[in-house]
Amino acid sequence: MAFLRSRSDAVSVLSHPEYDDHEAVVFHRDPASGLRAIVAIHSTTLGCGLGGCRVYPYADEVDAITDVLRLSRGMTYKAALAGLDQGGGKSVILADPRRDKTPDMMRAMGRLVQSLGGRYVIAEDSGTDEADMRAVAEQTAFVGGGAAPVNPADPGDRDTSATTALGVFYGIRAAVRHRLQRDDLRGLRVAIQGLGKVGSVLAGHLHEAGALLFVSDVHAPAVAACVERCGATALTPAQILSQPADVFAPCAMGAVLDAHSIARLGAGIVAGAANNQLADPGDDHLLKQRGVLYAPDYAINAGGIINLYYSGPARRWADVDAHLRRIDATLTEIFEHSADTGEGTQAIADRMARTRFARNAV
Ligand code: NAI
Repeated sequence: MAFLRSRSDAVSVLSHPEYDDHEAVVFHRDPASGLRAIVAIHSTTLGCGLGGCRVYPYADEVDAITDVLRLSRGMTYKAALAGLDQGGGKSVILADPRRDKTPDMMRAMGRLVQSLGGRYVIAEDSGTDEADMRAVAEQTAFVGGGAAPVNPADPGDRDTSATTALGVFYGIRAAVRHRLQRDDLRGLRVAIQGLGKVGSVLAGHLHEAGALLFVSDVHAPAVAACVERCGATALTPAQILSQPADVFAPCAMGAVLDAHSIARLGAGIVAGAANNQLADPGDDHLLKQRGVLYAPDYAINAGGIINLYYSGPARRWADVDAHLRRIDATLTEIFEHSADTGEGTQAIADRMARTRFARNAV
């Protein structure tokens, strides 16, 4: 990463390849609590920059900057494509969530968020949980979610995984309708990679709809639970990608799709929750060449931010669910445009999102 450093070894954010005219990048250290954090606000043209706070033991500041710039930009695109009046932001704390994180550190993070006056709204991400957000909320009101659900169907405005899973389920239905011309999911073969908070709930929805599931996870108990609950067929992590199926649903880590894995895909549709599924965003044309229908990740996995958007006392589950169902319409528009023009679905999604937030730019 030599390009990042000037002769004095200072990190240059403005010349970073992931810097995309971010509105603000704020560095902060709180010696008393040990907090070392970076907040990146990519765009507030559509609304406040909402995004999770990731706590991770980054190898160095350069890695942390790369992550926060990339992730905050992704939030702008995701919110814009989901039709939310909301911008994109993200924060990272350079710490080991198991070893270093303390309530004091999270309170210091809350003060940092407060100092930004609402341009950044913090939420959970990997390495942070509900208790962390409570500590943050002692210092600032700019926290996504937190109201108690009043409707039994409502998972609550802070549980982003359940709504992400439901949105992915609606997205799979859209992809199946477009590619296989059917609305009924009975007998549909779906291979799910990763049975964590999102994958396990998605498996439940698909099972209820009559789909046949093939599942894998590096965590054996998660697989055993899904086999028991949904009658799924267990596969090894090495088998899942090439399993003959109608749909491959990546719900584990990012960068699962590259030239090598795309050539081995056993399904004609890729539709899952994982963020940044394409190792190289330009690879969506390889999927297209192979005749694979790809549901762009941030279009199909927007259920979490849609849920957070409806935080507060006026929240009604019916509004959240109606918005989640719009994932179907957005994907259908992308798929149809791709079929008409031959363009990759990711490129189309990017342009649709950019058009929305750039049109609103002052
Ligand atoms: P999680 O950490 O609860 O679950 C991930 C699961 O994948 C774990 O059970 C893990 O053991 C498994 N896994 C890891 N490597 C694997 C491999 N090589 N093969 C098979 N399984 C593997 O995470 P969560 O919340 O379920 O998120 C899943 C994906 O969806 C992530 O990429 C996340 O960034 C993305 N996402 C999550 C959202 C949320 O609200 N939780 C929102 C939008 C996207």
